[in-house]
Amino acid sequence: MKLSTTSSTRLAKTPLLIVPVCQGEKPILPKGVKVPTGFAARFEGKARSTRSTFAQSGPADQVLLIGLGARQDVECEGLRRCGAIAARQAEDLGVAKASFWADGVEDFECGGQAVGVALAEGILLGAYRFRQMKSKPEAHKCKAIGVSSDDRGVKRGLTHGRVTAAASAYARDLQNLPGNKLTPTEFARRARKIANGSPRLTCKVLDERAMAKLGMGLLLSVSQGSTQPAKMVHLCYKPKKRSRGRIALVGKGLTFDAGGISIKPSAKMDEMRFDMSGGAAVLGTFHALTQMDVPYEVHGILGCSENTIDGAATKPGDIFTAMNGLTVEVNNTDAEGRLVLADCLTYAVKKVRPDTILDLATLTGAVIVGIGHELTGIFPSSETLRDELVASGQRVGELCWPLPLLDVHKEGMRGTSGDLSNIGSPALGAGSSQGAAFLSSFVPADIDWCHLDIAGSAWGTAQRDWVGGSTGTGVGVRLILDYLSTRA
Ligand code: BES
Ligand code: ZN
Ligand code: ZN
Repeated sequence: MKLSTTSSTRLAKTPLLIVPVCQGEKPILPKGVKVPTGFAARFEGKARSTRSTFAQSGPADQVLLIGLGARQDVECEGLRRCGAIAARQAEDLGVAKASFWADGVEDFECGGQAVGVALAEGILLGAYRFRQMKSKPEAHKCKAIGVSSDDRGVKRGLTHGRVTAAASAYARDLQNLPGNKLTPTEFARRARKIANGSPRLTCKVLDERAMAKLGMGLLLSVSQGSTQPAKMVHLCYKPKKRSRGRIALVGKGLTFDAGGISIKPSAKMDEMRFDMSGGAAVLGTFHALTQMDVPYEVHGILGCSENTIDGAATKPGDIFTAMNGLTVEVNNTDAEGRLVLADCLTYAVKKVRPDTILDLATLTGAVIVGIGHELTGIFPSSETLRDELVASGQRVGELCWPLPLLDVHKEGMRGTSGDLSNIGSPALGAGSSQGAAFLSSFVPADIDWCHLDIAGSAWGTAQRDWVGGSTGTGVGVRLILDYLSTRA
């Protein structure tokens, strides 16, 4: 699907004209478009409702109205959904292209630019399908939607939304690829390819030998039982202007998590191809950074690994030494994400020295029990970081919910023989907080840090037109991009 911007002074000939309508308001159709009497009057404009007709004369063959609900309640989420419904209906009607009439949308409370972003993201992510694994992938019938507006803010927003939506769709593709196609090696290859696309990006890939030299014993332990070698990817973005800070984004990139000897039940085990969603979010962010500027030096660190089983696999009780020197008892080989992240965090701390670290990971099933699929659980180390991430989440429709990280959770991660255990006492409960507590041993207190547990939000969310269902959501990409563009 292509998204273009066209003028709203005059509508060019189109097979389908799409017009958003507020509840209780009359649709404002472009000049010359004549529809049957009563067509518009019978449309109430309730949010997400639609009505279509063949036009009697004028530049449009068909006209589709999409309801937005009451004007004062229209928010970005409603506009994203409207954009997605437009894309879906254009596809269902079988037209090769369509025009979205956005004249006047700049008057909504969120402002022209945000409206433009929301419409572009809604249209492009609503049209997203994962078809590349079909032997004969069905092409989209609707190839292009032109959004008509002469507002500078809306146009700027559309251009920006095209970049953020493409990055999110890129992350979705990575998520949806099965474990045999997206291996750690392939993940690293794709990261290199992204970096090659921009003079502002560099990419370094560490193989197992290089990681062993650095003492990354925890990360390396996870793929001991796999034929796929682990990789760690280090991407770096340097801003055009003077940098206002250094941020490290760390992503859990388990291209498959069978659990290891603490093997997972077979029901839904296939979903563990999504266990690289944190890494996908980080690489998706860099996809966007090839086309947009942010005033920070941004580092991306992907821990790419596969957690499977053979005779060399980690045995419960095995003890490994982390890159920061701590020894860790692996009492459950299925709690592998924190092992991979721990060494990636140490790498970030030692090699990058960032002022802020965000890590994204499908870390715990417990976060789904606690807060479900519609939210990302966040563990921010400061109120500022918490407020900024919550606000970004609200703007982009990737909601974040702060969860507690108490001293008792940290104390619960102490090991019997080693310094730490990778699991806490089940009696303590709060599995997601325990995961965060384990990670906290690898981030010094003077670095602002937030762990984002995306185990719920990465797939399986409710249907919201532009997102939802059993496949990857691309969560994290637009959240981080908004954070990078707005943080103080
Ligand atoms: N990748 C899983 C977490 C997960 C489970 C994500 C289900 C999404 C859906 C992670 O590696 C894991 O297995 N965590 C364990 C931790 C436990 C052993 C302390 C879990 O959540 O059960
Ligand atoms: Zn696991
Ligand atoms: Zn996992």
